[in-house]
Amino acid sequence: MSVRKILVTNALPYANGSIHLGHILGYIQADIWVRAMRSMGHDVTYVCADDAHGTAIMLRAEKDGIRPEMHIAAMQKEHEADFAAFNIAFDHYDSTHSDTNKNRVQEIYIKNREAGHIDVRPVTQLFDPKKNLFLSDRFIKGTCPKCKTEDQYGDSCEACGTTYNATELLDPRSTLSDATPIHKSSDHYFFKLPHFEQYLQQWTRDAGRLPVSIANKLDEWFEAGLADWDISRDAPYFGFEIPDAPNKFFYVWVDAPVGYMSSFENYIQSKRPDLSFNDYWKKDSTAEVYHFIGKDIVYFHALFWPAMLEGAGYRTPTTLSVNGFLTVNGQKMSKSRGTFINASTYTANLNPEQLRYYFASKLSNKVEDSDLNLEDFSQKVNSDLVGKVVNIASRCAKFINSSFNDTLSAQCAEPELVTQFIDAGQSIIQAYEAREFSTAIRQIMALADQANQYIDEKKPWALAKIEGNEQQVHDVCSVGLNLFRQLAVYLAPVLPQLANDVQAFFNLEDFNFASRTQILVNHPICKFTPLMQRVDKKAIEQMIEQSKDSLTTAQEPAAPEKTKTKKAAVKDATPAQDVISIDDFSKINLRVGRVLAAQTVDGSDKLLQLTVDLGEAEPRQIFSGIRERYAPEALVQKLVVVVANLAPRKMRFGISNGMVLCAGQGKNLSIISPDEHAQPGDVVS
Ligand code: 2FM
Ligand code: ZN
Repeated sequence: MSVRKILVTNALPYANGSIHLGHILGYIQADIWVRAMRSMGHDVTYVCADDAHGTAIMLRAEKDGIRPEMHIAAMQKEHEADFAAFNIAFDHYDSTHSDTNKNRVQEIYIKNREAGHIDVRPVTQLFDPKKNLFLSDRFIKGTCPKCKTEDQYGDSCEACGTTYNATELLDPRSTLSDATPIHKSSDHYFFKLPHFEQYLQQWTRDAGRLPVSIANKLDEWFEAGLADWDISRDAPYFGFEIPDAPNKFFYVWVDAPVGYMSSFENYIQSKRPDLSFNDYWKKDSTAEVYHFIGKDIVYFHALFWPAMLEGAGYRTPTTLSVNGFLTVNGQKMSKSRGTFINASTYTANLNPEQLRYYFASKLSNKVEDSDLNLEDFSQKVNSDLVGKVVNIASRCAKFINSSFNDTLSAQCAEPELVTQFIDAGQSIIQAYEAREFSTAIRQIMALADQANQYIDEKKPWALAKIEGNEQQVHDVCSVGLNLFRQLAVYLAPVLPQLANDVQAFFNLEDFNFASRTQILVNHPICKFTPLMQRVDKKAIEQMIEQSKDSLTTAQEPAAPEKTKTKKAAVKDATPAQDVISIDDFSKINLRVGRVLAAQTVDGSDKLLQLTVDLGEAEPRQIFSGIRERYAPEALVQKLVVVVANLAPRKMRFGISNGMVLCAGQGKNLSIISPDEHAQPGDVVS
């Protein structure tokens, strides 16, 4: 086998928020691949960094009264700790806010400029005269020019879905200062992406470059035509200044991917002077570069990034591995449901390797969303890892430890079976290499079933009761442990901690894929200690509870401050027919919502269709039987109380996701509406 030189990266997390399980999915995927490729003997370097620039980070630091450098240093520390807790083992973790990155970005920019790929022209944008700041779409709110719903962001209307330019919003205001923005023009720098149209059309269709579904999606963009890319932002901006352009800064998405290169460069400088940067990044390099990214950032990685590299005379990535989104219990992660789970909340409650296993069992090289169903998670982990894999060792090791001087039998009693396990490795390894982890896991578990079947048939515990069977007990348990060792080698990329423990138990120097071919006979082992605990359902419940609380904790700096969780407090519950306990009551998640849009429902004279902001990432659709009493336009902007954790109901007209609380009925019905100072997402208790 020829040794491949591979550089692997993960998307660089923004330094303005905590790592959550949606992020972790992609990092676990890359880490498993890195470990598997290394186990095959390849030379893999794995780097990452915090994505440290941009307006959001600048404003966040300003709000906290600290310099952005302090803010990003603290975030980086937190991120690195989260990754380490999940055994995501980068060779090097950097920041895009480094001199190395600045130099490399400037060099790439200048090379592109010299090749004629940069243009300068004035752009008129909304400007906050109080903050002295050009406003990006997310910092502008106003009335939708189409449906006239108030309080819409600068790029699209959440009520009617129209997209527009911020300059088209009616009554715009800055969300930073509440000032009315003015129109102001300034020079912007553009990267001439259309210069690379043909090149990119070919590039995205090169074999192995991208998942086919993504290449097809990109074709739609090619058909629509590529546009120049605005790569500059005016001061003040936390980022790198553009050479020869005072007060102009590179847009964060310019220096972010360059962070892949500079993190690698800093790795070489600080830890691996034997490696050469050019070996990996020069145009005709034979090394491979793999970027693991989420599907939401394909545009940047499959168009801008290769074009910038090509324009500057560098090699482009070999492959983009694209993962889908994570849902929890079949739904979008949600703060009110407690399923928006931070990495640190998970590790405080549950074993990170168990999530690695669960994700691996779901991941393929297709761009599919993955669901973390917590019931399925505990069932699968308990049955596969604890019930099948670890169980093999605990059934066999006790006999070797107690009766055979901690030494495996001098002969392999089932050479065919053990050889079959060794041979099965070939296809498992291929599956790892192809990033078809779910296939690898399926094959490994089929072997685990076979190993358990062997032990069930031989029944060493029964043999041991009859005198004269010692050799047979020794042989059977030694075969069982050999099979277990095969499984642990195969699972090592997914379960590095378990693999370390098993390697130590077997006193083995090597635990890579090739090492498995040596059958262990007359081999000393250590005392067996339990390798994995079952998933504790209480720990899952606690994690969900803590995720609800985390809205206001430091773990989620990006979360709106306004949301507070209070425990429901009910004194002297009136004794009545249906008395419920405080615990029962506190299961009902009542939240303040703001009606963003309301409309009648064709075919129903009772219902109104409401779009309600509950302080979540997306507003909810709720059907409410209030049409007799309320005209839709009277409800827009009204604050309401919503049962937020009601199971979604499928209705003839669509799915209703929550319930709006009302008093009375029919024409006397009245919506329960909090005072104006309440905020969407506030807990009602
Ligand atoms: O989407 C994100 O979270 C970005 N911070 C990813 C950047 S990846 C790379 F280009 F740096
Ligand atoms: Zn609208």
